[in-house]
Amino acid sequence: MDIDSLKNEWEELNKEYTELENCNRRYIELLEQLHSRQQICFNEIKHQRYRMNQITASLRQFKGPVDVEVKEKVDELQKMTLKRKAQLHEIEQSLPAKSGRYLQIILGDVNVSILNRNDKVRYKDDYEKFKLILNVIGLIMAFFNLIFNYRALELAFIFLLVWYYCTLTIRESILKVNGSRIKGWWRAHHFISTVAAGVLLVWPQGEHWQIFRMQFMYFNVYISIVQYLQFGYQKGLLYRLKALGERHNMDITIEGFHSWMWRGLSFLLPFLFIGYWFQAYNAWTLYKLAFSPPDAPWHVSVMSGLFLLLFIGNMATTLWVVPEKIRARSKERYRLLSMGKSMKLRREVKNSASDMDLSSSANGSTPKTATGSLTEQQPPADKKDI
Ligand code: COA
Repeated sequence: MDIDSLKNEWEELNKEYTELENCNRRYIELLEQLHSRQQICFNEIKHQRYRMNQITASLRQFKGPVDVEVKEKVDELQKMTLKRKAQLHEIEQSLPAKSGRYLQIILGDVNVSILNRNDKVRYKDDYEKFKLILNVIGLIMAFFNLIFNYRALELAFIFLLVWYYCTLTIRESILKVNGSRIKGWWRAHHFISTVAAGVLLVWPQGEHWQIFRMQFMYFNVYISIVQYLQFGYQKGLLYRLKALGERHNMDITIEGFHSWMWRGLSFLLPFLFIGYWFQAYNAWTLYKLAFSPPDAPWHVSVMSGLFLLLFIGNMATTLWVVPEKIRARSKERYRLLSMGKSMKLRREVKNSASDMDLSSSANGSTPKTATGSLTEQQPPADKKDI
């Protein structure tokens, strides 16, 4: 190739680079627009909540005996308030949220918000798969520890537990930032489990550990099996959540979601309660070990206290979950409706964006610029009625 043709090639590349620069400028403009739209949404949400609180406060004056007609209107307004709360919560799912203190300490000041409902469901799916894989590994290691009594194998297993629970606390904090309704206790449970696994790691090998060792390994085998059942339950719920935005008749999917949830729960609960009694039994065994044989290391009583704490917290939370689910039925229905609509809307916008891409490619213009112009033409998602 002679030098002139190389020069020509460079000129051509230059033209392409100018196009790239334009595209990048457009992209930065869109990012700026995105930021200002987000601020508008935040303000509007605040405004909606403020006025809704005022209406709710005024509704209190109708608490006493009132006309049937007035009562109907009050009920209607209360229902609409519930529905609007679910709608606002769903709109918030497409906006960035601040990380909590724990995440800020661990990850630094980084944004972990996922701004798309479908991606949130995918992240949750990934979290459940992570738990499943680690549980299978944990089950195998606990099983080997039942057969062989090697310190190195034991320590590897306990170290895995420390790492696993620590990772869960991080993933769950990210889920929480992204709108998960995970109860505070389950997150606390995983923090306590991290501490417990840390105590086990430094528990010196001796008579007390050897007495408790086998019981602890059996407990882990059982917990791994229960966690597998929990995975089946959560996976089933996630599958039905994904289906929410894909059906024309959302009522059917919501109905299916609820009937599956109750069936899943009634199957799972007995296994959970057996697991909690196992925790109480561990606490009791360790409590006795703290006195005999004599000279028990401090780890014995600390572990006894931690197992007792886990038993009480798990039992109380699980017993509370079921009546709470019955009480919050209509709230849950509105939540699912809003979620389904939001998933549907996202898919429609995505499909029309790819249609635009295809048609502009067919017309000869670059698809990248077409996507940019699409964002101008489409009404923003937050302005649609969901
Ligand atoms: N760990 C992590 N996330 C949990 C959770 C747990 N143990 N329990 C519930 N969640 C999540 C749900 O996935 C849901 O998330 P989302 O808002 O992102 O959809 C949210 O918290 C609200 O869940 P909720 O409706 O209260 O309960 P559920 O129907 O999903 O599950 C149980 C109810 C009782 C089955 C569940 O809490 C559970 O399995 N608990 C037992 C945990 C346990 O005891 N482990 C130790 C075994 S001995």
